[in-house]
Amino acid sequence: MTRRTIIAGNWKMNMRSASARSLAKGIVDAVGKTSDVEVVLCPPAAYIGAVTDVTAGTPVEVGAQNLFPADDGAFTGELNADMLTDVGCRYVILGHSERRQLMGEADADVSKKLHAALAGNLVPIVCVGETLEQREADETEAVVESQIRGSLEGLDEARAAGIVIAYEPVWAIGTGKVATKEQAEAVHAFIRELLGKMFTPDVAAQVRIQYGGSVKPGNAAELLAQPNIDGALVGGASLKVDDFVGIIQC
Ligand code: PGA
Repeated sequence: MTRRTIIAGNWKMNMRSASARSLAKGIVDAVGKTSDVEVVLCPPAAYIGAVTDVTAGTPVEVGAQNLFPADDGAFTGELNADMLTDVGCRYVILGHSERRQLMGEADADVSKKLHAALAGNLVPIVCVGETLEQREADETEAVVESQIRGSLEGLDEARAAGIVIAYEPVWAIGTGKVATKEQAEAVHAFIRELLGKMFTPDVAAQVRIQYGGSVKPGNAAELLAQPNIDGALVGGASLKVDDFVGIIQC
């Protein structure tokens, strides 16, 4: 089973229209006309249009960082899946630890968003990961299992193979403290086995599992060489053309 590597840049709440365009342009130019690796840029919602202007007709895909799980209506300040596909998104990051921590998003919210994403033809990138306290208390597998079961609640087998999961240990996000390749691979293997139990081994073999948390050009190659690591969700290093392209080239 070969899974196409997927490298996504989570720009978080950074950039302005000019810098968003020039970052996207630098990446598009470096990726070229075809790419073995799937490259996804996830700018702030305000700059999705600026980025899709640059990526249109190229292999570089665009994703959103969140969505609201409802049809059009009275939801001030929110964006739904239809709007995101309409402006050219193919992916959406869901349940990022910053949203779980800062906006109180729970697994049940992530699950609603997952179903809304799939109904709107977006590929969800579902983020899970333990805090440092949970890792030190030996709770990593239990935490990740309950996040995955909760976030994928109600997902049917037919659609499960198409989703992306991002394992992002909270203690590694934005800290410069990357998980070792052994630590990351162990959790990725655990997630794949869990998916095999929740769905089928065949589905589990198709789901792409990204690692996220302080991925840089200097550590990406050894992480991506692990058998169950199928890509990276990159924060800080996705804001510089050279760093992000360096990771893609790994
Ligand atoms: P980082 O962020 O690469 O800056 O650690 C990763 C993420 O939050 O997705």
